[in-house]
Amino acid sequence: MTSVETLKAMAAAAAVALVQPGMVIGLGFGSTAAHATRLIGERLASGALRDIVGVPCAEGTATLAREMGIPLTTLDEVNAVDLTIDGADEVDPQMALIKGGGGALLREKMVAQASRRVAIIVDESKLSPALGTRFYLPIEVVDFGYRATARWLEAQGGSVRLRVRTDGQPFRTDQGNLILDWACGPITDPAALAARLAARAGIVEHGLFVGLATDLFVAGASGVRHLTR
Ligand code: A5P
Repeated sequence: MTSVETLKAMAAAAAVALVQPGMVIGLGFGSTAAHATRLIGERLASGALRDIVGVPCAEGTATLAREMGIPLTTLDEVNAVDLTIDGADEVDPQMALIKGGGGALLREKMVAQASRRVAIIVDESKLSPALGTRFYLPIEVVDFGYRATARWLEAQGGSVRLRVRTDGQPFRTDQGNLILDWACGPITDPAALAARLAARAGIVEHGLFVGLATDLFVAGASGVRHLTR
């Protein structure tokens, strides 16, 4: 049987094939995106790829990219990102996503929104008939009134947990915010829920990515499927 790690690497390799010299590349965060970052670094080192610059979606990605020798820039320095390659926690049949399992949802969404093309790389276990079925929805919130924000979410259904680190301390995003993981159940209308969450003060960002993915690479035992939107 093909291991999940092998499937992630297969999906990453298929997406990295889209990278061309001269491109600005959004580098996503998470274990699947890390395969893509490492592969891009290896291709630069071998000379198979040249003249690209990366926009990292997380401090962790920036560290990995530097280790791999990938030149980096920031969103502020570029007009647009040509191609972003990132993972996802859950993908529905319309290519709407839940992201933020690693806590980088805000920067990931900013980079995705600035990108001409967003390639999402997943193993087939991430596919779902409806978002919220197999993963909670990460919500980045400010400290002020975060318990009130959690109660507002729970009033709409499901349950909320403050994300904590292994040492028991609250998890902090790269912006220093908290994450509420909302087990909200199957989401029937992701766009409507995204709009409701975006309108709520106290919520900095949420993990629903609707209409952002242009390409989906799904790796399974029989190979990698490439879907476009
Ligand atoms: C990071 O904040 C997330 O959005 C990741 O893209 C997502 O959690 C997928 O991560 P894995 O590839 O590690 O499953």
